[in-house]
Amino acid sequence: MSKKIIVVGASSGIGAEIAKEHLKKGNNVVLIARRKEELEKRIQECENPSGKSHILVHDVIETHQAAMLFSKSVELLGGLDEIYFASGIMEKIEINEFDTIKDLKMIQVNLCGAIAWINPASEFFSKQGNGKIIGISSIAGDRGRVGNPVYNTSKAALNTYLEALRNRLSRKGILVLTVKPGFIDTAMTQGLKGLFWLISANTAAKIIISATDSGKEDIYVPARWWLVGFVIRNIPSFIFKKLNV
Ligand SMILES: NC(=O)c1ccc[n+]([C@@H]2O[C@H](COP(=O)([O-])OP(=O)(O)OC[C@H]3O[C@@H](n4cnc5c(N)ncnc54)[C@H](OP(=O)(O)O)[C@@H]3O)[C@@H](O)[C@H]2O)c1
Repeated sequence: MSKKIIVVGASSGIGAEIAKEHLKKGNNVVLIARRKEELEKRIQECENPSGKSHILVHDVIETHQAAMLFSKSVELLGGLDEIYFASGIMEKIEINEFDTIKDLKMIQVNLCGAIAWINPASEFFSKQGNGKIIGISSIAGDRGRVGNPVYNTSKAALNTYLEALRNRLSRKGILVLTVKPGFIDTAMTQGLKGLFWLISANTAAKIIISATDSGKEDIYVPARWWLVGFVIRNIPSFIFKKLNV
């Protein structure tokens, strides 16, 4: 039977590939983002997908619209099985820059946007007694680093929010999966220097969907980033503050 899926942040990168993979599998998907024409292109790229697609244009900063658009998505699909929150931004921040406007925008998209969409999904799934919530976070949330303090903060807070929801919802039969990608080849990483272990957004999407299907709760993408996360989390602060990572 086909599944009913919402993907927030489906116009490019990881979210786009997740939406396309589900459409190709015959699942019905609501694709959400700001750029309508990019969402349309992503659907065309699927070439006769067996699943049905719907587009909703939305800026996740408009958090007051999320609950209403969530209900509209459920109505379009005739129910809901899984929601993926993949919208995210990483503003370019110089090493001596403290730009509150850029910083708050990252919190609004990466964290407030996620909460505004995942809260109504949690309520809906709680009543339904099943469902899957997938939040695309980052290995960047594992530690506060010199390069982009508020990007790190947005992802660390997202991790804590998702963990708390998991503790609330797993007893009701609902899966909450935290996804921590390493470096993925998307618009977000274009032009960045020193990337390694780079994988395509499509490979990342397949790993994320497979983890969702098998009921995993916390993954690094690809899995070898787990070791990097483990080392980063365990370096003592007196050493870590001298490093440029
Ligand atoms: N690429 C990496 O190496 C990497 C590593 C770790 C974590 N991540 C995380 O993975 C997620 C997806 O990023 P990506 O790499 O796939 O980047 P991407 O290709 O730039 O995709 C970002 C997506 O977020 C959407 N988005 C951005 N601002 C939005 C807004 N205000 N309202 C609604 N949607 C918005 C974009 O859609 P519109 O612009 O059309 O609105 C787009 O669909 C992000 O949370 C990112 O932090 C990426």
